[in-house]
Amino acid sequence: MSNTKVELPKVYKDAGDFMPILGTDYIELYVSNAKQAAHFYKSAFGFQSLAYAGLETGLRDRESYVVVQDKIRVVLTSPLRSGSKIGEHIDKHGDGVKVNALWVADATYAYNTAIERGATSYMEPVTEEDEHGKVVRSGIYTYGEVVHIFVERKEYNGVFLPGYKEWKTTYNPEPVGLKFVDHMVGNVELGRMDYWVKFYQDVMGFTQILSFDDKEISTEYTALMSKVMSNGNGRIKFPINEPAPGLKKSQVDEYLEFYEGEGVQHVAVATDDIVKTVTALQNRGVEFLNIPSTYYDVLESRVGKIDEDIDSLKKLGILVDRDDEGYLLQIFTKTIQARPTMFFEIIQRKGATSFGKGNFKALFEAIEREQELRGTL
Ligand code: FE2
Repeated sequence: MSNTKVELPKVYKDAGDFMPILGTDYIELYVSNAKQAAHFYKSAFGFQSLAYAGLETGLRDRESYVVVQDKIRVVLTSPLRSGSKIGEHIDKHGDGVKVNALWVADATYAYNTAIERGATSYMEPVTEEDEHGKVVRSGIYTYGEVVHIFVERKEYNGVFLPGYKEWKTTYNPEPVGLKFVDHMVGNVELGRMDYWVKFYQDVMGFTQILSFDDKEISTEYTALMSKVMSNGNGRIKFPINEPAPGLKKSQVDEYLEFYEGEGVQHVAVATDDIVKTVTALQNRGVEFLNIPSTYYDVLESRVGKIDEDIDSLKKLGILVDRDDEGYLLQIFTKTIQARPTMFFEIIQRKGATSFGKGNFKALFEAIEREQELRGTL
């Protein structure tokens, strides 16, 4: 398949982008108990039941629950037997993101192009069908054991993917206003950031939109470096971090140690009312990093006038940063599984297209306080 000469379809030529991506299709986590995880995503984060696949749909080896909130679809998958690839993944990494699925117009074209440009195959194009139509999926590896699956669903009107049935339940907690995936951050090994930057440039046609070195991203003790990759239309943004030498162990080192390799550090989800969203999340028991109240003493002099009431932001621990185009509000959950690995960011953009550089110091100091409690600093 990789030898096939790829003909660029007209839609792509018109876009002037060899790998156009329409958006994030879904994120799949391999977790040790998908049924309980799905309940957590519903009760704590306001996701809604969408779809199910497992014993009741004819699968014998695994079970997946799919939850949705606006454009965000999260698939939670667990094995039903020992000795499976999914089980090995969970044994090694704990709960974590396995798949970042990208919505494309042509999954065969995307796969052939990526392979021709040097990607490693995870899954050759497969057409799956049911009474609601057909979906074509294909997949390539990225850092660690994470994969990108290309999803072509223009001829499908089922609830999620062929093979899934609608998941109906009487327990439907209110959504909290999460809208779409803003960005997804990967942690890679020391010295590997530029390798993966080049991968996204060469294989996926992404461009580097920002870069932070360890002088910018450091505290008294810890440091990291980061480069932000974006696809042509800006809907897909992947910052990539690598650890930098510091006096103590950085948060990226801690992640790599406990995840036992490279993987997804955080998924940032967007809201258009962060005060309302975070209030709802805190009421449902979601825990966020604590920001010292002194952060807010100098907030207005740092970022200028903002629409939000600073006391509300202070009460909730929401951070603010400004760039040339506007400002953004953001907050970070504590890690959300047994291992100190993955967490979520909630972000509201008011013009700003950056990632909160002005908050790095306050944020990393908050993470260090958590690391200190864990004895991993
Ligand atoms: Fe982020």
